[in-house]
Amino acid sequence: MTRVRVADADAFDDGSRAVVTLNGHEIAVVNHDGECYAILNRCAHDGGSLDEGKVHGRLVADVTEPGERDVERFCEDPSITCPLHGWEYDLETGVHVGDGGIQLPTFDVVEADGDLYVTDGDASD
Ligand code: FES
Repeated sequence: MTRVRVADADAFDDGSRAVVTLNGHEIAVVNHDGECYAILNRCAHDGGSLDEGKVHGRLVADVTEPGERDVERFCEDPSITCPLHGWEYDLETGVHVGDGGIQLPTFDVVEADGDLYVTDGDASD
């Protein structure tokens, strides 16, 4: 398993962001509502940096009939919006919210001895 240190765990509180390099790839690390997420920092559209994107609950709606939406609300699953052209990704899974065929890699964030690390999750290294 390969891991890279992000920050002191106590200092990386809600709203904190960082960019680390793991296995040659930039990873955006975000604390949103006390949960830490790590996602490839390169938008699948045209390479935008997600670490500069807005994080928010994903907009969902109940569809009552084709073309008609009834109740719209923001769910608790956070997403991050690319600042360049607005592509939006689920922070937990990396799946594009409008096209399930597009997905960015996501990574585990773990705490050890007071520090936060991003790992590739591969225990064979
Ligand atoms: S580069 Fe991310 S939406 Fe275009």
